[in-house]
Amino acid sequence: MPLRSTEAGWGALVRVFHWSIALLILVQAVIGLSMVEMGLTPAKVRVFALHKSIGMTILALVLLRIAWRLGERRPADPPAMPRWQVRAARATHLALYLLILAIPLSGWWFNSASNAPLVWFGWFDLPSLTGGLDPVWKPRALLLHQTLFGLLVALLVVHVGAALWHHFKQRDEVLRRMVMGPRKKTGGG
Ligand code: HEM
Ligand code: HEM
Repeated sequence: MPLRSTEAGWGALVRVFHWSIALLILVQAVIGLSMVEMGLTPAKVRVFALHKSIGMTILALVLLRIAWRLGERRPADPPAMPRWQVRAARATHLALYLLILAIPLSGWWFNSASNAPLVWFGWFDLPSLTGGLDPVWKPRALLLHQTLFGLLVALLVVHVGAALWHHFKQRDEVLRRMVMGPRKKTGGG
């Protein structure tokens, strides 16, 4: 199983990053949306702490993913793919990268502006971005966190829709090679 991507498909590391981050974001979204509805109990405090720890883990994984991806090549696009679709896919991917970076950063910013603690899974403290309470930027940071999340959901509808369209309608390799990696050469045929 090649670690690096090739002309024929995505390498193992790109796939591990893609699917682990996708799964964590799904878990994170469910926790985020349910925790804000909870009554003020000790459980709420624990769930908030969990949301923040998972969020900071996602941020670290996204940074590692981008650093790795900068040294990778992209597999070739399906030959029949029109130019506008190639451009639309690139723009969507870039926007997805920006959003999965900006969402945890805005959460961190909101948490800092609220002067709330940030302890990674109860292990160690992470620094504040604002150095204390910031009542002016606090509501703006929260609005940003919520709006960016809404944008991510909208873009994911397009992204997942495109992946399924490639797989079931175009019947090309685009989804398969993100799941399984490059197809092995069978020699002949
Ligand atoms: C990819 C990572 C993240 C995702 C997808 C995410 C998603 C969400 C969602 C959907 C909500 C509910 C918003 C609402 O309806 O009001 C939320 C709230 C919240 N998030 Fe995140 N979040 C992420 C990372 C973070 C990080 C890293 C932190 C802090 C270090 C954080 C802190 C918070 C806080 C404090 C709230 C509660 C806001 C309130 O009191 O209304 N989030 N997040
Ligand atoms: C939170 C969820 C997700 C995020 C943030 C996300 C993000 C991304 C990003 C940034 C890329 C570009 C990869 C690169 O060029 O380095 C990508 C590629 C891809 N994603 Fe996702 N993705 C998510 C979920 C999904 C799901 C659920 C599917 C399938 C149903 C999917 C299918 C694909 C495929 C097939 C590619 C490769 C596209 C190509 O070869 O051009 N993604 N994804």
